Amino acid sequence: MNLKIKVNGEDWVLDVAPADTLLDVLRERIGTKSPKIGCERGDCGSCTIFMDGRTVRSCLILAVEADDHEITTVEGISYDGISELQTLFLEKNSFQCGFCTPGIVLSATELLEHNPNPTRHDVQEALAGNLCRCTGYEPIIDAVLAAGEGGSE
Ligand code: FES
Ligand code: FES
Repeated sequence: MNLKIKVNGEDWVLDVAPADTLLDVLRERIGTKSPKIGCERGDCGSCTIFMDGRTVRSCLILAVEADDHEITTVEGISYDGISELQTLFLEKNSFQCGFCTPGIVLSATELLEHNPNPTRHDVQEALAGNLCRCTGYEPIIDAVLAAGEGGSE
């Protein structure tokens, strides 16, 4: 089946199988490796991407459902250098293995776009679908709070 898709500003036309997920196509056909293969059933958030500006789990979307849509991954928000949020992730040691980090950065970016000054509870809620096995979440939450309008708490 034919798939026309824009990924991080670049247009692609691909022949895909009906059962291919968007995650598979992004990683294996387009070479965009930041969305990670985790649970593959919508539970862990490691495959989170932006589709038309909203976060979705790319393991739950068939590639053909993304036809004529626009996809942005962490690679696509980092063209002009890393964002303030990503800098804060570095400063606050908000990752260890990094497997969860691209998805968490995108979920937090979406939160900050809609709520530039979130509370700790807002951040916890926004990131509830993104699992991290390494950090205990506190350094992640601290980075997102510091990226908010109020600066560090
Ligand atoms: Fe998609 Fe876990 S791999 S939610
Ligand atoms: Fe390892 Fe989050 S840093 S899973």
